Amino acid sequence: MSLIDQIDKAKVPEHVAIIMDGNGRWAQQRGNQRIFGHRNGVKAVRAATEAAGELGVKYLTLYAFSTENWSRPKSEVDALMSLLVDTINSEMETLLKNDIRILTIGDIGMLPSDVQLKLSEVIKQTSHCKTLTAILALSYGSRLEITEAIKKLIAEHQNGKLSLDQITPELFSSYLYTAGIPDPALLIRTSGEIRLSNFLLWQLAYTELYFTPVLWPDFTKEEFYKAVIEYQKRERRFGKTSQQL
Ligand code: IPE
Ligand code: IPE
Ligand code: MG
Repeated sequence: MSLIDQIDKAKVPEHVAIIMDGNGRWAQQRGNQRIFGHRNGVKAVRAATEAAGELGVKYLTLYAFSTENWSRPKSEVDALMSLLVDTINSEMETLLKNDIRILTIGDIGMLPSDVQLKLSEVIKQTSHCKTLTAILALSYGSRLEITEAIKKLIAEHQNGKLSLDQITPELFSSYLYTAGIPDPALLIRTSGEIRLSNFLLWQLAYTELYFTPVLWPDFTKEEFYKAVIEYQKRERRFGKTSQQL
C-alpha cells in the first residue's frame, strides 16, 4: 500500500508546523557553501506545501528564520533574505493557482525593506485564497512574541480597557502573532535535532511532536505523509484517560 493510502483523510491535522532544519549540513556534505543548502531547501518547501494542500491541511507554518538567526554571518543572512524575495517572485503564480494564502508571523519590522515590501505584496495578492494558509515564521522568536503580548496586555490594563479577571489563556492567545489561528496539531522538525529552538512555545503546549533525521533539502511529499501517518497513530488524550475518549 502506498504511503498516501495509509492516511485517514478524516483525521488529517488541521495545522502542521515545520522547523525546516539541516540545510547547512546538507550543503557541507556535498562540499558546498551553506547557501547551496538553503537554495535546495526551496523545493522541499514546495513539496511540503503541495502535500499539505492535497491532504486537506488548512494551516502550514514554516519556521524560515528565527530571531537568533540574525547572529549568523551577514553574508548568510543577506543570502537568505534575497532567496526569500526570489522565491516569492518565482512562486507567486503557483500560489494563486493552488489557492494558497500567505501570512507571516514574527518581528517583520526587522527585515530589510525590500523583503517587507515583497511580503506585503504576496500577502495582499493571496488574501482571497482559501485552500491552504501558509504562514511564514520570519524573524520569529517565541519569547519575543510572548513578551510583546504581555506589554500590550499591560498597556490595555493601565488604560482601563482590560481588567485582570478578563485575562484568560484564550485571551492571551489572541495577543500573539498567531491570533485566530488554531494551535498546531503536528510539529515536524528535520535534521535530527530534538529541540524547539524558540518556536511557538505557547502554541505547542499540546502538539504532537515528530522528529526525523532527514535533512530539509531531502524532505519530500513522502516524508510529509510519513509524519502524518505517525501522527494518526498517536492518541491525543488532553489529560483524559484512554477510556474517556
Ligand atoms: C535551516 O537550516 C534553515 C535556517 C535556519 C535558516 P540550517 O541553516 O540551520 O542548517 P544546519 O542546521 O546548519 O545544517
Ligand atoms: C531553527 O533552526 C530555526 C529555523 C529552522 C528557521 P536553527 O538551526 O537556527 O536552530 P538551532 O540553533 O540549531 O537550535
Ligand atoms: Mg540548523
